[in-house]
Amino acid sequence: MDGSQNTLLITGGLGFIGCALCARLLKDKPDWKIVILDDYSVGTLEDISDVTGQLIDGSHLAEVSNVGPIKVIKGDIRNRADLENAMQGVTHVAHLAAQTSVPISAEDPLLDFEMNVTPVFHLLDIARISGTKPKIVFASSNALLGRAPQPVSETSLPSPIAPYGASKLAGETYLSTFGEAYGIPSVSLRFGNVYGPGSFNKSSVVAKFIRQALNGEVLEIYGDGSAIRDFIHIDDLIDAIVKSLDFKTSRNEIFQISNGSETEIGYLTDQICEAFEQRNLPRPTVQFGEERAADMKRNVSDVSKAQDVLGWTTTIPLVDGILETLDWFLARR
Ligand SMILES: NC(=O)c1ccc[n+]([C@@H]2O[C@H](COP(=O)([O-])OP(=O)(O)OC[C@H]3O[C@@H](n4cnc5c(N)ncnc54)[C@H](O)[C@@H]3O)[C@@H](O)[C@H]2O)c1
Repeated sequence: MDGSQNTLLITGGLGFIGCALCARLLKDKPDWKIVILDDYSVGTLEDISDVTGQLIDGSHLAEVSNVGPIKVIKGDIRNRADLENAMQGVTHVAHLAAQTSVPISAEDPLLDFEMNVTPVFHLLDIARISGTKPKIVFASSNALLGRAPQPVSETSLPSPIAPYGASKLAGETYLSTFGEAYGIPSVSLRFGNVYGPGSFNKSSVVAKFIRQALNGEVLEIYGDGSAIRDFIHIDDLIDAIVKSLDFKTSRNEIFQISNGSETEIGYLTDQICEAFEQRNLPRPTVQFGEERAADMKRNVSDVSKAQDVLGWTTTIPLVDGILETLDWFLARR
């Protein structure tokens, strides 16, 4: 790395978090070169064009396309040659591409392993062999903490209860080991429940309920609505990623990244219903279903380390974020 030009590789850069990260970087770090590696399995060139306002020069069939100044390489993170190609000359990596579904990880744990563990290993091993030491920011997850006592923090003992959590923990372990053994710097960010504009492909509760309500479907709460989750707005999450790209470390540093506040699912659902009424739309119908055995009763993060060490904090109240998300879905319809 000669420091003259920062070049960031974003794996999975066409997805929910990747598009928002690109939009932010175009504004805040216009001198950075951005390269995306994505297989188009979820995200599309149109998605990133919508979010960034940049024009597409290319197609899904092309090996390389451009969206404004962003170079998009079509490739698979499971293929080492694709990663080697995409990593040429990069100073930073935001590793976002993954198998992102907990239920799919339970149905197909080998797929989850191949998507979430070996690509992290390859990224690190390619960096080790090239001797370039790019800074890697890894999209990890709270899921690796499983049934650890709440609120969870960086000192909680990980005990994943689904293959998805195990694969994210394995990724963090390789990052930590390659930091110690080869001095490759990295930051693992354990995301909570991310919501916000751009989440049309997501099956997490805010996006799912808004999509269902717009289709006139009934919203089903599992259990009595008292389950507690910790929701973080995409813009607050992107702040944490950008601060992590700038964070100086010679090894792996872990941060819990969520809002650090407890929200009952019943309250969240009420706020979504209120948002519909504020926009003069029919109030969605809500029903209560069976509690799911594997669901945690309470899941919340202690984010004080990220506040103290990363100098990061959240700023967007849930109520505002929900209304903004609904407006975004309405504009996209
Ligand atoms: N969104 C959340 O609530 C949340 C919470 C915790 C952790 N995370 C993690 O954050 C990361 C990004 O999540 P997201 O919500 O943006 O997901 P997403 O599904 O919206 O985006 C993932 C992107 O990766 C691409 N991709 C998938 N498989 C690929 C492959 N084999 N090769 C290359 N590209 C591939 C997809 O086309 C998509 O554009 C993931 O690692 C996820 O596990 C997300």
